[in-house]
Amino acid sequence: MARYEIMGGARLEGSVTISGAKNAAVAILPAALLVNGVCRIENVPDISDVRILLSILEGLGANVQKPEENVVVIDATAIHSTVPEAALVKKMRASYYLMGSLLGRFGHCHVALPGGCNFATRPIDQHIKGFKALGANVEETEEYVALQPGEEGLQGNRVCLDMASVGATANIMMAGVLLEGQTIIENAAKEPHIVDLANFLNTMGAQVSGAGTDTVKIRGVQQLQGGTYTIIPDQIEAGTYMAAAAVTGGNVLVKNVIPKHMDCITSKLEEMGAEVIIYDDAIRIKGNGRLQAATVKTRPYPGFPTDMQAQICVCMTLAEGVSRLTESVYETRFFGYCTELESMGAKIEISGKTAEVTGREKLKGTTVVARDLRAGAALVMAGLCAEGTTRVENIHFIERGYENLIEKFTALGATIRRIDD
Ligand code: EPU
Repeated sequence: MARYEIMGGARLEGSVTISGAKNAAVAILPAALLVNGVCRIENVPDISDVRILLSILEGLGANVQKPEENVVVIDATAIHSTVPEAALVKKMRASYYLMGSLLGRFGHCHVALPGGCNFATRPIDQHIKGFKALGANVEETEEYVALQPGEEGLQGNRVCLDMASVGATANIMMAGVLLEGQTIIENAAKEPHIVDLANFLNTMGAQVSGAGTDTVKIRGVQQLQGGTYTIIPDQIEAGTYMAAAAVTGGNVLVKNVIPKHMDCITSKLEEMGAEVIIYDDAIRIKGNGRLQAATVKTRPYPGFPTDMQAQICVCMTLAEGVSRLTESVYETRFFGYCTELESMGAKIEISGKTAEVTGREKLKGTTVVARDLRAGAALVMAGLCAEGTTRVENIHFIERGYENLIEKFTALGATIRRIDD
């Protein structure tokens, strides 16, 4: 099993270029199945979740080419199967998007239940509710979901989500773009990757409006044609490097970001004492001495993202004073990393949805285990700050979502290497 070995103590300095957004890419690549033509998708991050998805698409009969770094060309005109390979589907969470895209294009599919980061119970009842509202018959077992047109066929309809689920919003959008009539998603998720998916679909000829607001409207069209699309930068990867710069007292220019997407993270780091300079498509972060304690509550976009919970927690473990961190999207997310941070000397008391973090002057290196993607990134950050050597195990979780992490941190002056046993 591979692991990262990090020698702590470096202040991060220099610049880092942010890759394409994982959570946009993992929706847009399956959405290419809806297109009757060739899609050229640029700024695709080279991460393991993307590689798995591309293998799944090839298995279904799509022609997938990678003409240049971070560019993927998909031609899904000759798809011959609506049953994605279960073993691959189970390797990642976002494979649930194959349900919406295959239902949307072919009217039926048989998709294994997804795997991926299991930091919480992650039901898909809202996705299913949406497919049913569009007229699908749903057979759901512990192993798979099979979708067929119901007696009255598939058609656009109104769906009101019980919670603003990212996955359900994107899945229903994909299922609706080629249906007759209008699909309206109420209480839709507003994350940047929802807007990016809508922009991709519209570039290919769909009629999606309202993405980024509570109500998304999809007027069905007969066919999507090919085109070229560039994926947005990754909000969470950017936030991770920003937090790492701040907590190491560094000075880092984070390039290729959409500053608006970073507002909540930027203002929290400023509140904790970091200096932030915002440019058109870059943000400079300077850590001015020890960070100060803060109160953070995770919320759906435009709130502070749950996917930054673990990274801001690392900042809190070294901040002056007592911080409060409340999780409102996935209650059990603390358990993926807090014990590991405690083994490095952090002081964290969890009570229900809230962690009370008492800042320490230092953390010490030890061997820790990544239990999910963001927890793993946070442990890397902790290792960068700790005295001595930190070994992070289970790094396959981290490599699902961070492109060239070793190269990017090394270029910023960190001492970090990947060790394959
Ligand atoms: N929920 C339900 N039923 C559903 C769907 C969601 O109860 O049918 C609940 C979830 O349990 C959770 C809340 O609703 O409490 C929000 O879940 P959501 O559906 O928005 O999450 P997701 O689509 O499964 C995406 C990201 C996650 C990110 C969340 C929240 C992708 C592929 N994943 O997951 O990203 O944490 O939104 O923003 O887009 C990550 O990148 O590390 C990651 C886990």
